[in-house]
Amino acid sequence: MKTIRLPVHVAFIMDGNGRWATRRLRPRAYGHKMGVQNMFRICGHAFHLGVRIVTVFALSAENLSRPQAELDELYELFRTFFDKKKEKLLELNAKIHVIGDLAALPEDVQASMHALEAETAGITSALLNICVGYGARQDVLQAVNKAVALGRFVDDASFHALLLTAGVPDPDFIIRTGNERRLSNFLLYQAAYAELYFSSKMWPEFSRRDLEKALVDYAARSRRFGNVGGKE
Ligand code: IPE
Ligand code: IPE
Ligand code: MG
Repeated sequence: MKTIRLPVHVAFIMDGNGRWATRRLRPRAYGHKMGVQNMFRICGHAFHLGVRIVTVFALSAENLSRPQAELDELYELFRTFFDKKKEKLLELNAKIHVIGDLAALPEDVQASMHALEAETAGITSALLNICVGYGARQDVLQAVNKAVALGRFVDDASFHALLLTAGVPDPDFIIRTGNERRLSNFLLYQAAYAELYFSSKMWPEFSRRDLEKALVDYAARSRRFGNVGGKE
């Protein structure tokens, strides 16, 4: 089979869990549960196809103001997959990096996330960034404040180094499910030249085949980065 030009770094805004469940007369928490299962399926397939870096938006800084009952259900899912069933994450054979402000999370969940980061720290073949309590504006502001505190002017490279994604190349391709066309405070600085893809599928129903279709769409795009188009 002829191989296509793949993005190095794919980021997913995994949106639509709640609506997917509600439409099936199920509680939103069921949608989150199926959403996590789909995360394993889609991340596994992306790595299998040859994508090296995957970033998933699991919980935004703004999501932290959702009803406590929904947050508790999400924390219970994190508890399950970072601890009790951590082999599901380990099976991805990727270095796990949790990105965001974890302070709002229960301490045992924070500890299991750090433990899994340590356990996978030696893996170099694939990287999975999991954004939790993450907000791009908050990240940009903490980076600016750090530069000010250091009394330094920054350029693009030194600014990147102050962001929570330090050392990670910018996303080439951002896929958002859930039939919304916005970034919702995700990777705003790093997304400057990302190709964007919006799917009307809700995250739990976004399939391996949908991922392949998105990657074929990506391969057909001409990334000019402000320059004039070369020969395709
Ligand atoms: C995305 O699904 C997952 C999180 C934000 C935690 P939603 O929970 O936003 O689902 P919808 O958009 O309400 O359907
Ligand atoms: C974006 O989804 C955040 C995640 C997928 C984690 P939201 O459901 O929070 O986005 P909005 O509120 O529709 O913009
Ligand atoms: Mg949503």
